[in-house]
Amino acid sequence: MKTAVLSSLVAASAAQQLGGAWSQCGGAGWTGATACVSGYTCKFSNEWYSQCVPGSAAPGNDTPTTTLKTSVIAAPSATPSAPSSAPSGSISKATGTKFTIDGVTKYYAGTNSYWIGFLTSNSDVDTIMSHLQTSGLKILRVWGFNDVKTIPGSGTVYYQSFSGSTATINTGANGLQRLDYVVKSAEAHGIKLIINFVNNWTDYGGMAAYFSACGVTSNKVWYQSSKCQGMYQAYIKAVISRYRNSNAVFAWELANEPRCNGCATSILTNWIRQTSDYIRSLDSDHMIAIGDEGFGITVSGDTSYPYSFGEGLDFAANLALPNVSMGTFHFYPSSWGVSNDFGKGWVNNHAAICKQLNKPCLFEEYGTTTGGHCTVEQPWQQASLAAKDAGMAADLFWDLGEILGSTGNKAADDGNTIFYGSDDWKCLVDNHIKSIG
Ligand SMILES: *[C@@H]1O[C@H](CO)[C@@H](O)[C@H](O)[C@H]1NC(C)=O
Ligand SMILES: *[C@@H]1O[C@H](CO)[C@@H](O)[C@H](O)[C@H]1NC(C)=O
Repeated sequence: MKTAVLSSLVAASAAQQLGGAWSQCGGAGWTGATACVSGYTCKFSNEWYSQCVPGSAAPGNDTPTTTLKTSVIAAPSATPSAPSSAPSGSISKATGTKFTIDGVTKYYAGTNSYWIGFLTSNSDVDTIMSHLQTSGLKILRVWGFNDVKTIPGSGTVYYQSFSGSTATINTGANGLQRLDYVVKSAEAHGIKLIINFVNNWTDYGGMAAYFSACGVTSNKVWYQSSKCQGMYQAYIKAVISRYRNSNAVFAWELANEPRCNGCATSILTNWIRQTSDYIRSLDSDHMIAIGDEGFGITVSGDTSYPYSFGEGLDFAANLALPNVSMGTFHFYPSSWGVSNDFGKGWVNNHAAICKQLNKPCLFEEYGTTTGGHCTVEQPWQQASLAAKDAGMAADLFWDLGEILGSTGNKAADDGNTIFYGSDDWKCLVDNHIKSIG
């Protein structure tokens, strides 16, 4: 709760050498206060981070004369704010082919909400997070990008704008502060976020939003242009620096569905290596995912489009890169010209590669707009869960639907959407969570 943080903060003048409530107080490279204000103690969490948490202060940490002053409250950019209802847990990790979340290693389920960081109501964000929490869905994948070429009106959220040859990151109230709130609410509800950095498609800008600023005209060249990659990495750095110490981050993700049609697969493999190494240089802890559709697997006797290498992806080569933590794949049979029954083999062929490389496989998106969500998708979920000891670690359906309290708006129905509380939800969430156990 905001008020709790506020009342325990102390004036900077009285406590220059002391960290305020929940502030950082140590870690490699840290040059700020290493002791905490009265009532707080500096708790070691890892080599990179110690934090002032409530508790008896270590000797010498007492500061007798402190005055409350609201002006010391700054935007909580790099410093995590106080969890409002639950502890924010521990960092999510890969353990062999499984995920470990808050210390528990098992199969997990989750969903996608590309739009949650674009909401302007904090209470809508909290409502959604509490629905996920009570449903047992642990992982939420969100867009950590929203790139524009024309700045919208002040009520519309965007994260980065391009003008001439300049990229400007929007850290304002209609910018990354909206994503800050998503992270904060996720911390309070024990939800773990996959935060994605750019789109292959033009929704919310995508790589195409960078094109004229960095002087290219295609995704293929964008991946290889040092100017475009410099802008993209600057954006990555801005986002990571805000949430570097949050246990609500499940994984950083390079892009939504990166493709390079007709390209040698080395183009994307090189870009994935370069980007995952860059992310690792900024953050030694959190997992890193690609966000691709999982195309490009050699399956003898099967020349279906999803297995082909035509979109420039080689699933096994990319997963083998040292700083890639997990394999991702998606499934939209009606867009890809394959049958619904293709799903089981699609899951198992990815799982086998994950098992071989000893990294978890995440079935990151799946959806259908025809035939009924429950009937069509349940067998895919079951195939994924059945492979939980054979490489599959988690699945996330596409995508979450909610009727938002403040506006009554349906967010956001694309035909694949599973609305909270619907019959589809009972089938694909409640039953699934029960089977997972
Ligand atoms: C996404 O990538 C594919 C392959 O390069 C390309 O055909 C498609 O046009 C891309 N989407 C956009 C919006 O650029
Ligand atoms: C992973 O990334 C780090 C940081 O950039 C880099 O130093 C390291 O060499 C990479 N790991 C491997 C095994 O290539």
